[in-house]
Amino acid sequence: MHDFEYRQGRLHCGEVPLEEIAEKVGTPFYCYSLPTLRRHIEAFEEPLSGVDHQTCFAMKANANLAILSYMAHRGLGADVVSGGDLYRALKAGIPGGKIVYSGVGKTAGEIDMAIQAGIMMFNIESAQELEVINERAGMLGRKAPVSIRVNPDVDPMTHPYISTGMKENKFGIDVEGSMAQYLKARDMEHIEIVGIDCHIGSQLTDVSPFIDAVGRLKMLIARLKDHGIALEYLDLGGGLGITYSDEEPPHPRDYARAVLDAVGPLGLKVIFEPGRVIVGNAGILVTRVLYRKQTKSKTFIVVDAGMSDLIRPSLYGAYHDIRPVEEKTGEREQVDVVGPICESGDFLAKNRDLPILIRDDMLAVMSAGAYGFTMASNYNSRPKPPEVLVDGARYHVVLNRQTYEDLVSGETVPEEILA
Ligand code: LLP
Repeated sequence: MHDFEYRQGRLHCGEVPLEEIAEKVGTPFYCYSLPTLRRHIEAFEEPLSGVDHQTCFAMKANANLAILSYMAHRGLGADVVSGGDLYRALKAGIPGGKIVYSGVGKTAGEIDMAIQAGIMMFNIESAQELEVINERAGMLGRKAPVSIRVNPDVDPMTHPYISTGMKENKFGIDVEGSMAQYLKARDMEHIEIVGIDCHIGSQLTDVSPFIDAVGRLKMLIARLKDHGIALEYLDLGGGLGITYSDEEPPHPRDYARAVLDAVGPLGLKVIFEPGRVIVGNAGILVTRVLYRKQTKSKTFIVVDAGMSDLIRPSLYGAYHDIRPVEEKTGEREQVDVVGPICESGDFLAKNRDLPILIRDDMLAVMSAGAYGFTMASNYNSRPKPPEVLVDGARYHVVLNRQTYEDLVSGETVPEEILA
């Protein structure tokens, strides 16, 4: 469900024609719908009402301050994976107590920052990380709350780059190893065991891998209990998929029902870390056609957005629906929609059936609200695009387009290399 519809042949976000935004901010730009965000948050939260839980939005999907502030306003917490994420979360008004910190490479500085912010818990990814957190907490005269991120070795049946809970992945600790780490953590002076965690992958379109993972976690929870280790939180990660083309992921209601059934009456507060399902279909990337280029074998539509703006097609072969901003009927053709970047891997769509497009036409790249802007770069010295948030008939530029000065800010030229 989203808020990007044609009205009188012109694609709108809510009541605002995308052309109007393009006139104001230029192209390319990201456009997010606040009503869609609201609906997605409500769809996720509604089946959890009455369940002791906390939803911690996975900021890696979208970390814009306005969006995060809205999440905070709606009572969501955050799943952070870096000091930068943590900084943003706190700045957006998300209380430390609603923040979980995942990721295999937390630095000492980041750990200190998180301890000082009083986060809900660190999701521990290795034996050595646990030792370092104990040490850092000791230096700060604090106790660090931790859960072990268990790698349950289940196949999430998704793209290999975004599956995280299989034994060959770098994430989490296997079930036996986790048991050992819990016993070690119990004896650590500056560690407080508070939970257990897993995240098996992203863009899952079936609930069964989640259920399998819960089953393995429950067995471990029972063994921990036998050792006198009681927990407060069960963190089930994120991963629920969305429809990009013809996928049919479970509705959040069915996902919630299935996992809560599997969890059963454990008496633990359940933590969720959804990212994509909240923001994915709440955002699009709008780009303009620069050129048509015909070769002997292909027609290329060269647009002003590339892999520096949206890398998902290049990196994962991901499919994003593409719609002309001005509705077009009539003849269609098969084209590659490509960006301006000097890489053959720079494309938004390959062999896509689209209406005949000409220079200056605008296109909406759909379902780009998650892992779109957050993965953008300055490759080829391209300024990052602006982000616009639409609420009904009003829109707000929530991030300005980077300038060329921004591109070189912080760079210095030592005089002596020119001597
Ligand atoms: N929690 C943890 C520990 C994660 O690693 C992730 C995603 C999430 C939660 C949120 O997962 P979600 O609900 O969004 O599926 N860049 C890739 C996706 C990478 C996902 C990484 N981890 C993409 O564009 O598809």
